[in-house]
Amino acid sequence: MIADQAIAVFTEDKRYLQQAVDLAADLVLPLVNKRPDEESLLLVVDRHGVSLVSTAMAHGPLRIDFSSPSLNYRRRFGGGRGQAIARAVGLKGGNTPRVLDATAGLGRDSFVLASLGCTVIMIERSTIMAALLADGLSRGQRDSDIAAVIDRMSLRVANAVGWINADENIDFDVIYIDPMFPPRTKSALVKGDMQLLHKLLGVDEDIELLLSTALQSNASRVVVKRPKKFGNVVGLKPSFVLQGRSSRFDVYL
Ligand SMILES: C[S@@+](CC[C@H](N)C(=O)[O-])C[C@H]1O[C@@H](n2cnc3c(N)ncnc32)[C@H](O)[C@@H]1O
Repeated sequence: MIADQAIAVFTEDKRYLQQAVDLAADLVLPLVNKRPDEESLLLVVDRHGVSLVSTAMAHGPLRIDFSSPSLNYRRRFGGGRGQAIARAVGLKGGNTPRVLDATAGLGRDSFVLASLGCTVIMIERSTIMAALLADGLSRGQRDSDIAAVIDRMSLRVANAVGWINADENIDFDVIYIDPMFPPRTKSALVKGDMQLLHKLLGVDEDIELLLSTALQSNASRVVVKRPKKFGNVVGLKPSFVLQGRSSRFDVYL
């Protein structure tokens, strides 16, 4: 995991200077206009939006693009309400639950659920990830093909544990949790976006606290997504398990 001091906001295009100044002030990060020589992560502001770049990796910028061909394909041909994630949150018959995505990350699972009709509150505690998400949502709103889906998604920058515990936050039926797990092998890190995410965020070590908080909340169902080969969160056996293509969903009723 990379230290916060090694992250800066970067732009080399004067047209985006004010946006970069505002972003740096919001996130309390330095603003630079020259790529640093030492290894660091940059939040780049340019005509494509806001993206995360590692100066040490060949991998291209990480940008949240809800209009991407892969999400577009998933939205149209991903299996609809029959796919594992939909069944896991309880999308059945006329039931379209309100979902609290406690670990929003890149927003992909939230987007899939919102495209199936769920309203989704996305909680993200990393201010850097949240900045990428906010930028992705605002570009998504300008794409008429997905604007209605984006309208069902809202973002809160917070630790989900505190957010769930706050008395006023009750507008959800299901809590969805997809934490960062340790990579099992080096090859598991090969996927570029995940490699960059691990560099930025490390591993979510406090999943047990998040899960126990979720289980004590008013939610009627809690779903934990995890890599297929990982065991249950210690001592907490799910009510049932659904197998997806590369993940499994542990469902607690
Ligand atoms: C593996 S990513 C989630 C990926 C996401 N499901 C997707 O489809 O893009 C996990 C994210 O959850 C966030 N996170 C972990 N624990 C959290 C907590 N207690 N509150 C808020 N965010 C949390 C991490 O910062 C990280 O961005």
